[in-house]
Amino acid sequence: MKKFNVYVTRLIPVEGLTLLRETCNVEINPEDRPLSREELLKNVKGRDGVISLLTDRIDGEVMDTAKGIRGFANYAVGFDNLDVKAATARKLPLSNTPGVLTLATAEMAWTLLFAVARHLIESEKIMRSGTWPGWGPMQFIGGDVTGKTLGIVGAGRIGTAMALMSKGFAMKVLYTDEVANTVLEKELGAKKVSFEELLRESDFVSVHVPLMPSTRHLFNAKVFAMMKPSAYLINTARGPVINEAELVEALRKNVIAGAALDVYEFEPKMVAGLAELANVVIAPHTASATKSSRAGMSVKAAKNLLAMLKGERPPDCLNPEIYE
Ligand code: GLV
Ligand code: GLV
Repeated sequence: MKKFNVYVTRLIPVEGLTLLRETCNVEINPEDRPLSREELLKNVKGRDGVISLLTDRIDGEVMDTAKGIRGFANYAVGFDNLDVKAATARKLPLSNTPGVLTLATAEMAWTLLFAVARHLIESEKIMRSGTWPGWGPMQFIGGDVTGKTLGIVGAGRIGTAMALMSKGFAMKVLYTDEVANTVLEKELGAKKVSFEELLRESDFVSVHVPLMPSTRHLFNAKVFAMMKPSAYLINTARGPVINEAELVEALRKNVIAGAALDVYEFEPKMVAGLAELANVVIAPHTASATKSSRAGMSVKAAKNLLAMLKGERPPDCLNPEIYE
């Protein structure tokens, strides 16, 4: 039997690649960097299937260049890099990797939350520089967590997991979502509130909405002004959900107490001034970077692609209407 011809736009953990290699010839971008647009267009040509990353823009042009392709499996849960409409118009399946990175991402949100509340990065710098003068009663006084109010913006899989992990800290949990989250309401007594109420009441605001036209710049100067001056903003979702330049301004003027970010509006760049601020924690988009999570993403992407290659509906199909 002829083997399928599959391309992977950058090296991913081996687990999924092993699965693919049973029935496919697998070629992988040999460079440890994202493909340029030109390289992407060149390398999708003549493939039966592609595993794409969140750094690859998969639009109509890529789909048409990859003439005869059976689908694209995105190695990410977020899929704002995929033009779903364009794929649906071409009857091409797309998939993502939900579920396997939920806990890792929620854990990262907590990592960031504590790091920013307790000035971990600034205080770590002093230790590394060898300039710590010794214990001091006024050094690095941070925000309390236990008993405070946690605001979850977007109570989907990851937002729910993050909220459930607050149990040990006896937090009051508020959330926004289109639908009521019965798990959060039952387990935590969480309350579904308006975005405005969440902003006004929360000591920690954690962002878990996907990037869509309606969530782009959801957080802006107006919104920061509605938050408590003692509040912290945590973002493990997508950078453009926050107007980053306006966030820098708000942090400079202490409109809010701090921000902890894993994602950026113009990745891999940061807007001017962000990296100079002491009241931010900045991580390089590593929320899903745990062994089990990344292995799980690799297997999910492979299984989705294998289904597409066989002409079957992939388990995590983003445009199931093409099969109707
Ligand atoms: C990571 O950002 C993902 O969407 O998987
Ligand atoms: C702090 O180290 C304390 O003992 O209070």
